[in-house]
Amino acid sequence: MTDRIRIPAVGRDHDDILKSMEAFRAGDADWRDGRTWSLVYYAGEKHHRLLKQASELFFTENALNPMAFRSLKRMEAEVVQMAASMLHGPLGHAPGEGCVGTLTTGGTESVLMAVKAARDRARAKKPWIRRPEIVAPSTIHVALDKAAHYFGMKVRFVDVGPDFRADPRAMERKINRNTVLICASAPQYPHGVVDPIEEIGAIAEARGIPFHVDACIGGFVLPWVEKLGFPVPVFDFRVPGVTSMSADVHKYGFAAKGASVVLYRDMSYLRHQFFVSTDWSGGIYASPSMTGTRAGGPIAAAWASLVAMGEEGFLDHTRRAMTAARRLQEGLAQIPEVTVFGKPDATIVSWGARRAASEGGVNLFAIADRLQSKGWSVDRQQNPPSIHCTVTSNHEAVIDDYLRDVREAVEHVVAHPELGASGNAAMYGMMAKVPFRALVKKSVMQVMEALYGTSIEPPDPDKLGEADASPLMKVINKYGGTIDAVLEKVDAARGKVLGKRPGSRA
Ligand SMILES: Cc1ncc(COP(=O)(O)O)c(C=O)c1O
Repeated sequence: MTDRIRIPAVGRDHDDILKSMEAFRAGDADWRDGRTWSLVYYAGEKHHRLLKQASELFFTENALNPMAFRSLKRMEAEVVQMAASMLHGPLGHAPGEGCVGTLTTGGTESVLMAVKAARDRARAKKPWIRRPEIVAPSTIHVALDKAAHYFGMKVRFVDVGPDFRADPRAMERKINRNTVLICASAPQYPHGVVDPIEEIGAIAEARGIPFHVDACIGGFVLPWVEKLGFPVPVFDFRVPGVTSMSADVHKYGFAAKGASVVLYRDMSYLRHQFFVSTDWSGGIYASPSMTGTRAGGPIAAAWASLVAMGEEGFLDHTRRAMTAARRLQEGLAQIPEVTVFGKPDATIVSWGARRAASEGGVNLFAIADRLQSKGWSVDRQQNPPSIHCTVTSNHEAVIDDYLRDVREAVEHVVAHPELGASGNAAMYGMMAKVPFRALVKKSVMQVMEALYGTSIEPPDPDKLGEADASPLMKVINKYGGTIDAVLEKVDAARGKVLGKRPGSRA
């Protein structure tokens, strides 16, 4: 490479800089119009403006030193307490008692911290454990895999039931002397159902093992769903076995990006999250979470969001989101070729083909491509193939348009079944089905290297399926060009196949 972008020799004009950045946005997802079903939680212009003002007020401050910026410490403590009250964290009557926690930069960091705290607690209490383990349902968010990967731990995944909820008895069977943490979700991300927290909590309590409830996506919506009178299984600190929870303020808390809460039943758990170094020449150093420097803006915006919403605002947004989610489910139920997976407890709706493509059903990934070509942002899932919709109040206005386009996409794919064997549909289909998971990983790595390599332009998302050079495509091409041809070979050579069949997350 001979040429690359450099810091300009002379600084540019500010208006000109802002113009360039506006131009960069041209191809971005437009989240204001409700055609994006994830990534952004938008509560309207007035709230949005407040978040920006709050961020700007504390734009420069750094919560790394809470003594220097007592304002940030105060707002962090207040956000933690508001979340603790909302999730029924116990009140303390003596030092060390009562629900405590910290703000983090997001759901992943909150999960990382809960896992790290459980690992370090076990190191102190059960020093004989060499490789600490976590027991979790297979639908738990992938942040848990990441945490285990980073912290040298093993996750024992347990298959969920046909309703996509965790199976407490099966989880109990996976507990052993190395288990340092049990995890479940409220709700789980892929299908929006709440795991049986009470039953799992009873097992965790009886075994004396910490139990983390990942409520990153549901923490700021389930309490209001419950208050509105919808049936919600008990999912929070009211369950005695629950020792920690995560809830993202930057999701249904409608805060700015970079804010999540991780809560613990009491300080005896939280203390294992902290990092303290006493010998560095730069001075004694103590930090509550992953990052060193902690941006003030997201903390300020999180505080502003909660107090601006109030219970009244949250109830209003939740009522509207629930109505939109119900309308979406009812509309999908009218389309014979598709079905909603599980019985969503709140505002996440996942839907897919009623019958698998191999049994004569429609090809879901071809439908996804068609929806994408109509300007919808589509989140594709696997095991089973499905499309994920995180419904918010902002989707109220687009449910009818979405349902109309889904109906049209289904009709189109029924009329053109060959679409499932080309382009992105073929690639996602293969990725979901192919048993060579190591090859899938290699192909994804290739995309990552393209994304984070020297090129400035990211790969075209509509052309990922054309990447003939990917390790996965090479195998497919070698065995006859279709996934089914490869699977036939695999069946013929059973036992020689490397890797796990998709669907297992063991
Ligand atoms: C249940 C759950 N846990 C964790 C996360 C990770 O959150 P983040 O993307 O903010 O790191 C998510 C994100 O959707 C989630 O739904």
